[in-house]
Amino acid sequence: TNNEMIQEACERLVLSDQQLRRIMVLMEKSMEQGLSGKKAAVKMLPTYVDAVPNGTEKGDFLALDLGGTNFRVLHIKLEGKETKMTGKIFRVPESIMRGTGEALFDHIADCMAKFMEENNLKDATKLPLGFTFSFPCEQDGLTRGKLVTWTKGFKASGVEGADVVTLLRDACHRRKDIDIDVVALLNDTVGTLMACAFQENTCQIGVIVGTGTNACYMERLDRIPKLAGYVDEHNVTPEEMIINTEWGAFGDDGALSFLRTKWDDAVDRESINPGQHLYEKMISGMYMGECARVVLEDLAKQGLLFGGHSDAISTPHCFPTKFVSEIDSDLLEDDDRTFQKTYQILEDIGVEMITANDCANVAYVCSLISTRAAHLTAAGIAMLLNRINKKHVTVGVDGSVYRFHPTYPTLLDAKIAELIVGDIEYKLMLSEDGSGRGAALVAAVATRLKEEKL
Ligand code: BG6
Ligand code: GLC
Repeated sequence: TNNEMIQEACERLVLSDQQLRRIMVLMEKSMEQGLSGKKAAVKMLPTYVDAVPNGTEKGDFLALDLGGTNFRVLHIKLEGKETKMTGKIFRVPESIMRGTGEALFDHIADCMAKFMEENNLKDATKLPLGFTFSFPCEQDGLTRGKLVTWTKGFKASGVEGADVVTLLRDACHRRKDIDIDVVALLNDTVGTLMACAFQENTCQIGVIVGTGTNACYMERLDRIPKLAGYVDEHNVTPEEMIINTEWGAFGDDGALSFLRTKWDDAVDRESINPGQHLYEKMISGMYMGECARVVLEDLAKQGLLFGGHSDAISTPHCFPTKFVSEIDSDLLEDDDRTFQKTYQILEDIGVEMITANDCANVAYVCSLISTRAAHLTAAGIAMLLNRINKKHVTVGVDGSVYRFHPTYPTLLDAKIAELIVGDIEYKLMLSEDGSGRGAALVAAVATRLKEEKL
């Protein structure tokens, strides 16, 4: 029957525990290459954040958040466990994401100026600013970092290889009406870890599953050969440091070929950075819907769906990840599965001949794609938990896929539990607002440590 043929065609989308364990081994190998400083797919970028908050942080901070679904400017007041925050979301038009670097940073400075104006912050004393910049940056200190490569939808010229804090500062100088004091540049995973650690001091891992996917974790300095001999500005070698893994690029050296499919190739080929961030392209929100779409298109072309009509489903990006979430929630209905949302979505994108069986099969494909994404992420997290090998570890997680997909968090949790070894207890925790609270905390910890060491 059709259904059996679809199941057979999609077989490669189901990953066995054995395959997941192989991923764990390969990913750790890639990470070790990254930590040693050799050329590696997984970059393992030092963040220069070497302490987590202790709950006493306080002060007034500005934060910028660039690289997730929204670009935001925030004003945060930390007072012990209390955080007060005001913020504003600004749009970054695609023409700016893919224009010149100068125009991008002028736009950021412009939004900041507007926000400061509206909140009467322009004349206030210069507030310390935490800049959450959610792309791979090669840092050599907390306040400097060169963009290694753009990821997700960004491609502004002249930024790769440049220090993004300098670009931001230059943009502010160009307009003369705002002055800033960037005290920390951080990845969103680091903000996520810090925001979670503030509440739960066992937090050692920060994970994002949103537009992109990435993780950071606390690594012992003696396991980071590329930082051998490192001392901070006070001549102290810290015991540990948060490493931004940039695991999205896992597989860029071919390590994932044993399980990538022709559909993953198609998604990669038509993306703006072919050959890059292959693990991310099998997992995150920017690609999950597209991945489901190319499978559906292929099945329709084979005559297994929609009476063989594939036109409506053939338009790239006509099937956003939000649809996968909505369709997967149809599958959660206990009684009679009516697939109402599924039907509606297919009708809306213009699929003509939709049968009840088509709806069930579309939902089946969506669930395979989201389950595979959850299991791939679980392999990464379980590997980190095994590597850290502590009795109690909390994992702070954020991002639209983790927040809004109906089954992803449960699938993720269940698979991690199967993949960890030894005596480990872990907990996944939604870590809210890494780029606001988290960024302010990094800024505050930096300030506190500076003062303590003086
Ligand atoms: C937000 C964090 O909630 O999640 C951001 O505060 C982060 O720093 C974002 O970049 C990631 O998720 P998404 O879905 O917006 O890409
Ligand atoms: C991409 C970026 C990474 C970021 C992640 C989640 O993978 O390269 O820096 O953390 O998306 O936003």
